[in-house]
Amino acid sequence: MERPGGQNPQAKGARTVLVAGAGGFLGKAITAALVAEGHRVRGLVRDPTKSDLVRRAGGQPMVGDVLEPSTLRAAMEGCDSVVHVAAQYPGPGIPPEMPRRVRVEGVRNLADAARAAGANRLLVCSGYWVYAGQPGVLVDDSPLDPRGESLVNYEAEQAGLEAATPGQLDVVVVRPAMVYGEGSWFRVMVNSIRSGSYLYPHPGTNLWSMVELSDAARAFVTLLERGRSGEAYLVVDDAPIMIRDLTALVAREFHLHPPAGVQREILEHAVGPEVAYHLAANRAGSNQKLRGLGWVPRYGDCRKRIPAVLDSLA
Ligand SMILES: NC(=O)c1ccc[n+]([C@@H]2O[C@H](COP(=O)([O-])OP(=O)(O)OC[C@H]3O[C@@H](n4cnc5c(N)ncnc54)[C@H](OP(=O)(O)O)[C@@H]3O)[C@@H](O)[C@H]2O)c1
Repeated sequence: MERPGGQNPQAKGARTVLVAGAGGFLGKAITAALVAEGHRVRGLVRDPTKSDLVRRAGGQPMVGDVLEPSTLRAAMEGCDSVVHVAAQYPGPGIPPEMPRRVRVEGVRNLADAARAAGANRLLVCSGYWVYAGQPGVLVDDSPLDPRGESLVNYEAEQAGLEAATPGQLDVVVVRPAMVYGEGSWFRVMVNSIRSGSYLYPHPGTNLWSMVELSDAARAFVTLLERGRSGEAYLVVDDAPIMIRDLTALVAREFHLHPPAGVQREILEHAVGPEVAYHLAANRAGSNQKLRGLGWVPRYGDCRKRIPAVLDSLA
Protein backbone atom coordinates (compact mmCIF):
# COMPACT_ATOMS: atom_id res chain seq x y z
CA MET A 1 0.00 0.00 0.00
CA GLU A 2 1.09 3.56 -0.70
CA ARG A 3 2.00 5.45 2.46
CA PRO A 4 -0.08 8.58 3.04
CA GLY A 5 1.66 11.83 2.01
CA GLY A 6 3.53 14.02 4.48
CA GLN A 7 6.96 14.16 6.08
CA ASN A 8 8.16 10.72 7.10
CA PRO A 9 11.80 11.11 8.10
CA GLN A 10 12.06 7.69 9.78
CA ALA A 11 10.75 5.82 6.75
CA LYS A 12 12.07 2.28 6.64
CA GLY A 13 14.13 1.75 3.52
CA ALA A 14 14.73 5.49 3.08
CA ARG A 15 17.02 6.09 0.13
CA THR A 16 19.52 8.79 -0.76
CA VAL A 17 18.63 9.87 -4.27
CA LEU A 18 20.36 12.09 -6.80
CA VAL A 19 17.74 13.83 -8.96
CA ALA A 20 19.29 15.11 -12.22
CA GLY A 21 17.16 17.97 -13.53
CA ALA A 22 15.96 18.84 -10.01
CA GLY A 23 15.33 22.50 -10.90
CA GLY A 24 12.94 21.60 -13.73
CA PHE A 25 9.16 21.17 -13.90
CA LEU A 26 9.14 17.46 -13.05
CA GLY A 27 12.40 17.51 -11.06
CA LYS A 28 11.14 19.95 -8.41
CA ALA A 29 7.95 17.96 -7.89
CA ILE A 30 9.82 14.64 -7.74
CA THR A 31 12.24 16.09 -5.18
CA ALA A 32 9.34 17.26 -2.99
CA ALA A 33 7.53 13.91 -3.32
CA LEU A 34 10.64 11.90 -2.41
CA VAL A 35 11.32 14.09 0.62
CA ALA A 36 7.67 13.80 1.73
CA GLU A 37 8.12 10.02 1.79
CA GLY A 38 11.25 10.20 3.94
CA HIS A 39 13.94 9.88 1.27
CA ARG A 40 16.97 12.16 1.19
CA VAL A 41 17.42 14.06 -2.08
CA ARG A 42 20.41 15.66 -3.71
CA GLY A 43 19.21 17.87 -6.51
CA LEU A 44 21.57 18.35 -9.44
CA VAL A 45 21.42 21.82 -11.02
CA ARG A 46 23.86 23.04 -13.64
CA ASP A 47 23.25 26.68 -12.75
CA PRO A 48 24.03 27.52 -9.08
CA THR A 49 21.43 30.30 -9.10
CA LYS A 50 18.79 27.54 -9.30
CA SER A 51 19.92 25.99 -5.99
CA ASP A 52 17.05 27.62 -4.10
CA LEU A 53 14.54 25.74 -6.25
CA VAL A 54 15.96 22.51 -4.85
CA ARG A 55 16.10 23.80 -1.27
CA ARG A 56 12.49 24.93 -1.44
CA ALA A 57 11.51 21.40 -2.51
CA GLY A 58 13.40 20.00 0.51
CA GLY A 59 16.51 18.75 -1.30
CA GLN A 60 20.21 19.51 -1.01
CA PRO A 61 21.45 21.28 -4.13
CA MET A 62 24.51 19.93 -5.94
CA VAL A 63 25.96 21.88 -8.83
CA GLY A 64 26.79 19.64 -11.77
CA ASP A 65 26.08 18.70 -15.35
CA VAL A 66 25.01 15.32 -16.72
CA LEU A 67 27.52 15.90 -19.54
CA GLU A 68 30.41 16.38 -17.10
CA PRO A 69 31.13 13.00 -15.46
CA SER A 70 33.47 14.39 -12.77
CA THR A 71 30.64 16.54 -11.36
CA LEU A 72 28.38 13.48 -11.26
CA ARG A 73 30.88 11.35 -9.37
CA ALA A 74 31.02 14.01 -6.65
CA ALA A 75 27.23 14.45 -6.56
CA MET A 76 26.55 10.67 -6.45
CA GLU A 77 28.89 9.94 -3.55
CA GLY A 78 26.81 8.39 -0.76
CA CYS A 79 23.71 8.04 -2.96
CA ASP A 80 22.06 4.67 -3.56
CA SER A 81 19.68 5.81 -6.35
CA VAL A 82 19.47 8.24 -9.23
CA VAL A 83 16.58 9.71 -11.22
CA HIS A 84 17.25 11.15 -14.69
CA VAL A 85 14.78 13.93 -15.53
CA ALA A 86 17.35 16.35 -16.94
CA ALA A 87 16.33 17.45 -20.40
CA GLN A 88 17.17 20.15 -22.88
CA TYR A 89 14.43 21.18 -25.29
CA PRO A 90 15.40 22.48 -28.75
CA GLY A 91 15.31 26.24 -29.17
CA PRO A 92 17.14 29.31 -30.43
CA GLY A 93 20.82 29.18 -29.48
CA ILE A 94 20.61 25.52 -28.41
CA PRO A 95 23.03 23.33 -30.43
CA PRO A 96 20.86 20.83 -32.35
CA GLU A 97 22.61 17.79 -30.83
CA MET A 98 22.09 18.99 -27.23
CA PRO A 99 18.61 17.50 -26.52
CA ARG A 100 19.86 14.01 -27.45
CA ARG A 101 23.16 14.43 -25.60
CA VAL A 102 21.51 15.53 -22.33
CA ARG A 103 19.07 12.63 -22.36
CA VAL A 104 21.15 9.80 -23.88
CA GLU A 105 24.77 10.62 -23.02
CA GLY A 106 23.38 11.92 -19.73
CA VAL A 107 21.85 8.57 -18.80
CA ARG A 108 25.09 6.74 -19.62
CA ASN A 109 27.11 9.15 -17.48
CA LEU A 110 24.63 8.85 -14.62
CA ALA A 111 24.73 5.03 -14.83
CA ASP A 112 28.56 5.10 -14.70
CA ALA A 113 28.48 7.46 -11.71
CA ALA A 114 25.85 5.26 -10.02
CA ARG A 115 28.04 2.18 -10.43
CA ALA A 116 31.11 4.01 -9.13
CA ALA A 117 29.12 5.09 -6.05
CA GLY A 118 27.75 1.57 -5.48
CA ALA A 119 24.17 2.78 -6.14
CA ASN A 120 21.70 0.11 -7.16
CA ARG A 121 18.75 1.94 -8.74
CA LEU A 122 18.30 4.20 -11.76
CA LEU A 123 14.99 5.67 -12.92
CA VAL A 124 14.92 7.00 -16.48
CA CYS A 125 12.17 9.47 -17.30
CA SER A 126 10.73 9.12 -20.79
CA GLY A 127 7.21 10.03 -21.92
CA TYR A 128 4.06 8.45 -23.32
CA TRP A 129 4.65 10.06 -26.70
CA VAL A 130 6.90 7.02 -27.42
CA TYR A 131 3.73 5.00 -28.05
CA ALA A 132 2.13 4.79 -31.47
CA GLY A 133 -1.22 6.55 -31.63
CA GLN A 134 -3.93 3.88 -31.77
CA PRO A 135 -7.70 3.58 -31.44
CA GLY A 136 -7.74 1.22 -28.41
CA VAL A 137 -6.42 1.54 -24.87
CA LEU A 138 -2.65 1.90 -24.50
CA VAL A 139 -0.99 -0.44 -22.04
CA ASP A 140 2.61 -0.41 -20.90
CA ASP A 141 3.84 -2.74 -23.67
CA SER A 142 1.69 -1.37 -26.52
CA PRO A 143 3.50 -0.79 -29.85
CA LEU A 144 5.90 2.14 -29.97
CA ASP A 145 6.47 4.74 -32.68
CA PRO A 146 8.87 7.32 -31.23
CA ARG A 147 9.34 10.52 -33.24
CA GLY A 148 11.04 13.86 -32.56
CA GLU A 149 11.25 14.58 -28.82
CA SER A 150 9.95 11.11 -28.03
CA LEU A 151 12.67 9.48 -30.16
CA VAL A 152 15.24 11.15 -27.91
CA ASN A 153 13.37 9.87 -24.85
CA TYR A 154 13.19 6.39 -26.38
CA GLU A 155 16.95 6.39 -26.99
CA ALA A 156 17.45 7.44 -23.36
CA GLU A 157 15.26 4.51 -22.25
CA GLN A 158 17.34 2.12 -24.33
CA ALA A 159 20.64 3.51 -23.05
CA GLY A 160 19.35 3.16 -19.49
CA LEU A 161 18.14 -0.40 -19.99
CA GLU A 162 21.48 -1.37 -21.58
CA ALA A 163 23.21 -0.12 -18.43
CA ALA A 164 21.14 -2.38 -16.17
CA THR A 165 23.24 -5.06 -14.46
CA PRO A 166 21.38 -7.83 -12.60
CA GLY A 167 22.13 -7.77 -8.88
CA GLN A 168 24.02 -4.51 -9.23
CA LEU A 169 22.10 -1.75 -10.99
CA ASP A 170 18.32 -1.92 -11.45
CA VAL A 171 16.87 0.32 -14.17
CA VAL A 172 13.20 1.32 -14.42
CA VAL A 173 11.67 3.40 -17.24
CA VAL A 174 8.94 5.93 -16.42
CA ARG A 175 6.56 7.11 -19.16
CA PRO A 176 4.41 9.99 -17.91
CA ALA A 177 1.51 11.23 -20.02
CA MET A 178 0.78 14.97 -20.43
CA VAL A 179 1.77 16.29 -17.01
CA TYR A 180 -0.33 19.34 -16.10
CA GLY A 181 0.60 21.83 -13.42
CA GLU A 182 1.98 25.33 -13.06
CA GLY A 183 4.50 25.30 -15.88
CA SER A 184 5.82 23.44 -18.92
CA TRP A 185 3.56 22.80 -21.94
CA PHE A 186 0.40 23.43 -19.89
CA ARG A 187 1.34 27.02 -19.14
CA VAL A 188 2.24 27.54 -22.82
CA MET A 189 -1.09 26.06 -23.91
CA VAL A 190 -3.08 28.21 -21.48
CA ASN A 191 -1.29 31.39 -22.55
CA SER A 192 -1.85 30.70 -26.22
CA ILE A 193 -5.54 29.87 -25.69
CA ARG A 194 -5.86 33.17 -23.82
CA SER A 195 -4.17 35.06 -26.64
CA GLY A 196 -6.29 33.29 -29.28
CA SER A 197 -3.30 31.63 -30.97
CA TYR A 198 -3.59 27.99 -29.86
CA LEU A 199 -3.63 25.48 -32.70
CA TYR A 200 -4.83 21.92 -32.42
CA PRO A 201 -5.68 19.37 -35.10
CA HIS A 202 -9.25 19.37 -36.41
CA PRO A 203 -11.60 17.74 -35.38
CA GLY A 204 -9.84 17.34 -31.99
CA THR A 205 -11.68 14.17 -31.04
CA ASN A 206 -8.45 12.26 -30.41
CA LEU A 207 -7.86 11.38 -26.76
CA TRP A 208 -4.92 12.58 -24.68
CA SER A 209 -3.92 11.00 -21.40
CA MET A 210 -3.16 13.39 -18.59
CA VAL A 211 -1.62 13.24 -15.15
CA GLU A 212 -1.45 15.93 -12.49
CA LEU A 213 2.09 17.03 -11.54
CA SER A 214 2.12 15.86 -7.90
CA ASP A 215 0.54 12.55 -8.94
CA ALA A 216 3.25 12.08 -11.57
CA ALA A 217 5.89 12.86 -8.95
CA ARG A 218 4.42 10.29 -6.53
CA ALA A 219 4.60 7.73 -9.34
CA PHE A 220 8.37 8.27 -9.48
CA VAL A 221 8.53 7.57 -5.73
CA THR A 222 6.49 4.38 -6.13
CA LEU A 223 8.69 3.23 -9.00
CA LEU A 224 11.87 4.06 -7.12
CA GLU A 225 10.66 1.97 -4.22
CA ARG A 226 8.93 -0.88 -6.04
CA GLY A 227 9.29 -0.70 -9.84
CA ARG A 228 10.57 -3.87 -11.50
CA SER A 229 13.96 -3.59 -13.16
CA GLY A 230 13.97 -3.71 -16.95
CA GLU A 231 10.33 -2.64 -17.17
CA ALA A 232 8.54 0.50 -18.36
CA TYR A 233 5.51 2.05 -16.65
CA LEU A 234 2.83 4.32 -18.04
CA VAL A 235 1.90 7.18 -15.69
CA VAL A 236 -1.63 8.36 -16.56
CA ASP A 237 -4.74 9.37 -14.64
CA ASP A 238 -8.09 7.56 -14.98
CA ALA A 239 -9.88 9.71 -17.54
CA PRO A 240 -8.39 10.52 -20.96
CA ILE A 241 -9.73 13.70 -22.56
CA MET A 242 -10.27 14.82 -26.15
CA ILE A 243 -7.96 17.67 -27.11
CA ARG A 244 -11.06 19.59 -28.24
CA ASP A 245 -12.60 19.25 -24.75
CA LEU A 246 -9.36 20.12 -22.97
CA THR A 247 -8.96 23.37 -24.89
CA ALA A 248 -12.67 24.19 -24.43
CA LEU A 249 -12.36 23.61 -20.68
CA VAL A 250 -9.45 26.04 -20.42
CA ALA A 251 -11.21 28.62 -22.61
CA ARG A 252 -14.40 28.38 -20.56
CA GLU A 253 -12.53 29.14 -17.34
CA PHE A 254 -11.39 32.43 -18.90
CA HIS A 255 -14.84 33.18 -20.40
CA LEU A 256 -13.47 32.74 -23.92
CA HIS A 257 -14.88 30.98 -26.99
CA PRO A 258 -13.38 27.51 -27.39
CA PRO A 259 -10.60 27.47 -29.98
CA ALA A 260 -11.41 25.80 -33.31
CA GLY A 261 -9.19 23.04 -34.67
CA VAL A 262 -7.11 23.58 -37.82
CA GLN A 263 -6.25 21.36 -40.76
CA ARG A 264 -3.21 19.12 -40.31
CA GLU A 265 -1.15 20.96 -42.97
CA ILE A 266 -1.58 24.26 -41.13
CA LEU A 267 -0.55 22.64 -37.85
CA GLU A 268 2.48 20.95 -39.45
CA HIS A 269 3.59 24.24 -40.93
CA ALA A 270 3.33 25.90 -37.49
CA VAL A 271 4.83 23.24 -35.19
CA GLY A 272 6.54 20.76 -37.53
CA PRO A 273 5.35 17.30 -38.63
CA GLU A 274 6.51 15.44 -35.51
CA VAL A 275 4.78 17.63 -32.95
CA ALA A 276 1.70 17.73 -35.21
CA TYR A 277 1.68 13.91 -35.23
CA HIS A 278 1.85 13.81 -31.42
CA LEU A 279 -0.92 16.40 -31.00
CA ALA A 280 -3.20 14.46 -33.36
CA ALA A 281 -2.46 10.98 -31.99
CA ASN A 282 -5.08 9.05 -30.03
CA ARG A 283 -3.42 7.87 -26.82
CA ALA A 284 -5.81 6.71 -24.10
CA GLY A 285 -3.51 5.08 -21.56
CA SER A 286 -4.19 2.60 -18.77
CA ASN A 287 -2.58 2.94 -15.33
CA GLN A 288 -3.35 -0.64 -14.31
CA LYS A 289 0.27 -1.76 -14.06
CA LEU A 290 1.29 1.21 -11.91
CA ARG A 291 -1.79 0.80 -9.73
CA GLY A 292 -0.62 -2.78 -9.20
CA LEU A 293 2.33 -1.29 -7.27
CA GLY A 294 -0.01 0.69 -5.00
CA TRP A 295 0.01 4.06 -6.81
CA VAL A 296 -3.38 5.77 -6.95
CA PRO A 297 -3.86 9.18 -8.58
CA ARG A 298 -5.25 11.80 -6.19
CA TYR A 299 -6.68 13.57 -9.22
CA GLY A 300 -8.21 10.85 -11.37
CA ASP A 301 -9.92 13.24 -13.81
CA CYS A 302 -8.25 16.42 -15.04
CA ARG A 303 -11.67 17.95 -15.76
CA LYS A 304 -12.17 18.37 -12.01
CA ARG A 305 -8.65 19.51 -11.15
CA ILE A 306 -7.77 21.89 -14.00
CA PRO A 307 -9.91 24.84 -12.78
CA ALA A 308 -7.86 24.97 -9.55
CA VAL A 309 -4.59 24.73 -11.48
CA LEU A 310 -5.74 27.60 -13.71
CA ASP A 311 -6.47 29.71 -10.61
CA SER A 312 -2.88 29.17 -9.42
CA LEU A 313 -1.49 29.98 -12.88
CA ALA A 314 -3.50 33.20 -13.07
N1 LIG B 1 6.49 18.18 -18.90
C1 LIG B 1 5.74 17.13 -19.24
O1 LIG B 1 4.50 17.18 -19.32
C2 LIG B 1 6.40 15.80 -19.55
C3 LIG B 1 5.58 14.71 -19.80
C4 LIG B 1 6.15 13.48 -20.09
C5 LIG B 1 7.53 13.37 -20.15
N2 LIG B 1 8.32 14.46 -19.93
C6 LIG B 1 9.77 14.29 -20.02
O2 LIG B 1 10.36 14.61 -18.78
C7 LIG B 1 11.68 15.13 -18.98
C8 LIG B 1 11.81 16.42 -18.18
O3 LIG B 1 10.81 17.31 -18.59
P1 LIG B 1 10.50 18.69 -17.81
O4 LIG B 1 9.22 19.15 -18.35
O5 LIG B 1 10.66 18.52 -16.35
O6 LIG B 1 11.68 19.62 -18.38
P2 LIG B 1 12.31 20.96 -17.76
O7 LIG B 1 11.33 21.68 -16.92
O8 LIG B 1 12.94 21.71 -18.90
O9 LIG B 1 13.47 20.43 -16.80
C9 LIG B 1 14.64 19.85 -17.30
C10 LIG B 1 15.75 20.21 -16.32
O10 LIG B 1 16.97 19.59 -16.80
C11 LIG B 1 18.03 20.49 -16.57
N3 LIG B 1 19.16 20.23 -17.46
C12 LIG B 1 19.26 20.50 -18.79
N4 LIG B 1 20.47 20.15 -19.24
C13 LIG B 1 21.15 19.67 -18.18
C14 LIG B 1 22.47 19.17 -18.01
N5 LIG B 1 23.32 19.10 -19.04
N6 LIG B 1 22.86 18.75 -16.78
C15 LIG B 1 22.00 18.83 -15.72
N7 LIG B 1 20.74 19.31 -15.82
C16 LIG B 1 20.33 19.73 -17.04
C17 LIG B 1 17.42 21.86 -16.86
O11 LIG B 1 18.24 22.83 -16.23
P3 LIG B 1 18.12 24.40 -16.57
O12 LIG B 1 16.99 24.86 -15.69
O13 LIG B 1 19.45 24.92 -16.16
O14 LIG B 1 17.84 24.49 -18.03
C18 LIG B 1 16.03 21.72 -16.24
O15 LIG B 1 16.03 22.11 -14.89
C19 LIG B 1 11.83 15.27 -20.50
O16 LIG B 1 12.54 14.18 -21.00
C20 LIG B 1 10.39 15.25 -21.01
O17 LIG B 1 10.29 14.75 -22.34
C21 LIG B 1 7.78 15.67 -19.61
